Amino acid sequence: SLSFVIAMIVAYLLGNISPSTILGRMHGIDIKKEGSGNAGATNTLRVLGPRAAAVTFLVDVMKGVMAVILAEQMAGPAAGRWACLFVMLGHVWPVVLRFRGGKGVAVSFGAILAVNWKLALLLLLIVVVAVVITRKVSFGSIAACVSFPVLGYFLEREFMPVGVIMALIILYAHRSNIGRLMRGEENSIHFSRKKED
Ligand code: G3P
Repeated sequence: SLSFVIAMIVAYLLGNISPSTILGRMHGIDIKKEGSGNAGATNTLRVLGPRAAAVTFLVDVMKGVMAVILAEQMAGPAAGRWACLFVMLGHVWPVVLRFRGGKGVAVSFGAILAVNWKLALLLLLIVVVAVVITRKVSFGSIAACVSFPVLGYFLEREFMPVGVIMALIILYAHRSNIGRLMRGEENSIHFSRKKED
């Protein structure tokens, strides 16, 4: 229906809002040219420090939450599930930033939170445990992606066609990280301002 289409466009455009890009510009840098070159909370931590990273994470999570709530109100629960994919697409490939966005982790967490908070918190737990053990955020993100279809199958089955597409796109967005992890060259995180490992 028309309301479904409008809800997906709204979700996609919400995804285009890039706090890391805006914060980078406020500091006179292009986040896509610093650190890992990613417009996300991890790279913002690396380049601009913990405060900017926290703002980035919260705004990216909130746009996921908002996209799902708006879509559910406009066109029902199935639209809410599809909005998860569209807000993520808007974040990873934002038309307003010439398709140079982030990797879709925080925004997907927010979107999943609005669909099924238990599923979202389990995925967050997987990320936290994996990052505490390895100190590599990308490894945590990849671990959550791989777990997502399995956990989702048990906790939110009707979400899974969309969920599998989301997981595959997030993995694709992490292809440079996967290469670095395999070569043992992936950056570790630090909670103080630092450019590289
Ligand atoms: O959320 C993205 C994270 O998994 C990796 O970020 O900047 O290390 O490529 P980055």
